[in-house]
Amino acid sequence: MTQKIAVVPCDGAGKEVVPEAVKVLKAAGAPFEYESFQVDADSYIKTGVAITDEVWKELQAADSILFGAVGDPRVPDPKYLAGVLLRLRFELDLYVNLRPARLYDERLSPLRREDRRKVDLLVVRENTEGLYVGMGGRFKKGTEDEIATQEDINTYRGVTRILEHAFGLAEREVVMVDKSNAMTYAGGLWQERWKAVAARHADIKTRHLFVDAAAMQLVKDPSQFDVIVTGNLFGDILSDLTAELIGGMGIAPSANINPTSGRGLFEPVHGTAPDIAGKGLVNPIGAILSAGMMVEHLGHHEMAVAIEAAVESAIRAGECTRDLGGSLSTSEAGDAVVKRLKD
Ligand code: IPM
Ligand code: MN
Repeated sequence: MTQKIAVVPCDGAGKEVVPEAVKVLKAAGAPFEYESFQVDADSYIKTGVAITDEVWKELQAADSILFGAVGDPRVPDPKYLAGVLLRLRFELDLYVNLRPARLYDERLSPLRREDRRKVDLLVVRENTEGLYVGMGGRFKKGTEDEIATQEDINTYRGVTRILEHAFGLAEREVVMVDKSNAMTYAGGLWQERWKAVAARHADIKTRHLFVDAAAMQLVKDPSQFDVIVTGNLFGDILSDLTAELIGGMGIAPSANINPTSGRGLFEPVHGTAPDIAGKGLVNPIGAILSAGMMVEHLGHHEMAVAIEAAVESAIRAGECTRDLGGSLSTSEAGDAVVKRLKD
């Protein structure tokens, strides 16, 4: 049965990297039917609507969404971002955000010590709650007496389900990251649910770190980590750090999924890169690896393994974009992966 993929390159670098990911999926022989949707800043500026009802229905009905990146310097209005990516994550209830960091070639590592370069970890980020829900307000706005609040929402169900999911993905250990020493209400709930869920998985080692210590340990020796589970904001921040450990933002993939409904949205961790977008300089690997995660999620395990192996081989051969030490353009870097899938 062919699966329906909604292709949403969106803005900036997204428009360059998503076609490369589709090219790789086609070369891998993925049994997908693709439909592209124009959700971007151009149409938002013209119509004031981030996603039309008609497109929304199609996105909802698709088996998965392959997403690029959202944002445009012409649209500083946070409503646009909230109406695209955050709406998709929240309304499709894609509560698990998987952000793996695997070092494909040692030359890409900023770590001086060789024994610390075996980076192969997974950040499991809660994706539908926390400080991202947009609750709060501004009082006496625009005056010197202004007060702004931003509520950090943590629910029993939301915390429990992300912790449970993390245990399902761990081989060795789950590290839970919070800031419960300073943020005691939210942290208290996380701590209680953590202890309860950990007790149900006695076969997996567990450890707790405060987020500041986690950042320090990730730089000191990332090879110690297997699965890190954390809330929305800390997951966002730590996954930029882990991206840098494996060669930079251009290489890091992500999956936004709901394990119960099966819905998923797959996007590179990098943003729209307005400084280099449109010049063929953007690295397509983050998008290609995200497409690989989509393939895995849709049940084509061997194809996913083949895509990742092709990426690794292209990187090791230096057939990649400048940010990874190569000299290829975006589409040539995509071709380097395709060539390996065809051999
Ligand atoms: C990411 C991005 C988004 C986030 C932004 C664009 C809202 O940084 O996917 O990591 O913070 O989740
Ligand atoms: Mn981010």
